Amino acid sequence: MSNKSTGVRPEAPVALVTGASGGLGQALALELDALGCRVAVHYNSSRDAARAVQEKLTNPSVLVTGDVGSWEAVQGIYADICEALGPVDVLVNNGAIRKDSLMAMQNPADWAQVIQTNLIGSFHTARAAVPAMLRQRWGRVVNIVSPSGIIATAGQTAYSASKAGLIGLTRTLAAECGRRGVTVNALSPGFMITGMTKDLPERVIEGMEGKAPIPRFVTVEEVARSAGLFLDQDCMTGQVISIDSGVSIT
Ligand SMILES: NC(=O)c1ccc[n+]([C@@H]2O[C@H](COP(=O)([O-])OP(=O)(O)OC[C@H]3O[C@@H](n4cnc5c(N)ncnc54)[C@H](OP(=O)(O)O)[C@@H]3O)[C@@H](O)[C@H]2O)c1
Repeated sequence: MSNKSTGVRPEAPVALVTGASGGLGQALALELDALGCRVAVHYNSSRDAARAVQEKLTNPSVLVTGDVGSWEAVQGIYADICEALGPVDVLVNNGAIRKDSLMAMQNPADWAQVIQTNLIGSFHTARAAVPAMLRQRWGRVVNIVSPSGIIATAGQTAYSASKAGLIGLTRTLAAECGRRGVTVNALSPGFMITGMTKDLPERVIEGMEGKAPIPRFVTVEEVARSAGLFLDQDCMTGQVISIDSGVSIT
C-alpha cells in the first residue's frame, strides 16, 4: 500500500548543514552539493573556513551564521536561508562542541553549554525547519550523534548526555513525522581527525587506532558518503546508522 500522504523529493533540495565550517560538516556540504542539493553553509565562528567550503560548491548556495544554542539566532538563520534559497528540505544537525572533564571537577557552565549547543541547538533547527517539511510532505532530518552517546567514556558526561539525548530526539521526532513523508535519522561516526579531536594527546589517539573491529579511523568523506542513503530512502526513519569501524559493537 503506498503512502498517499508522502510528497516527492524536490529536484534541488535545500540542505542546511550546521557547522559546515568544521571537518565533517565540510565533507557533508560537498557531498550534498554533489547529490544536487543547494546547500546553506552554516558556521558559528569560522567564517573563512565556511567561505572556502562555499567556493567549492557547484550549485547555488548561501552562507549563514549563528549560534544554534540561541532560538533567536536560529530563527534568523532560517529566515536568511528562506530568502536566498527557499525553505529547508534537508537539515543536517552537525555543529557541536565537546568540553570534557571528570564530572567531579566540571564547570557547570561548560556542562550546560554542551547540552545547549548539541542537543537544544538541534531542537532549535528542527523546530524552525520541520513545519515546512511537514506541509510539503517531504523532508529529511539527519542528526550527527556519536558512539559516546551509548558507550561510557570517563570525562564525557556532557557530550555523552547530549548525544544520547539527540538519539532520543531522533527516534521520537521520527515517530511524529513519518506519516507526512519526513524522515528523521541519526548518523554516528567513529573517531575522525577533525577540529574537535585535534587537541587530544597523540598517545591517546595512537591508543585508540586499531582497537575497533576494522582497525583504522573512519574519514570524514566516508561518513559524508552516507548522505545519499538518507536522501533516497523513504522508509528508513528513527534509525542510528553507525559508520564507526565497528566500535559501537565492542
Ligand atoms: N571528530 C570525531 O571524532 C567525531 C566522532 C563522532 C561524532 N562527531 C560529531 O561530528 C560532528 C562534527 O564534528 P567535527 O568532528 O567535524 O568537529 P569540528 O571540526 O570541531 O566541527 C564542529 C562544528 O560545529 C560548529 N559549532 C560549534 N559551536 C557551534 C554553535 N554554538 N552553533 C553552531 N555551530 C557550532 C563549529 O563551527 P565554527 O568552527 O564556525 O565555530 C564547527 O563547524 C559533531 O556533531 C560531532 O559531535 C565527531
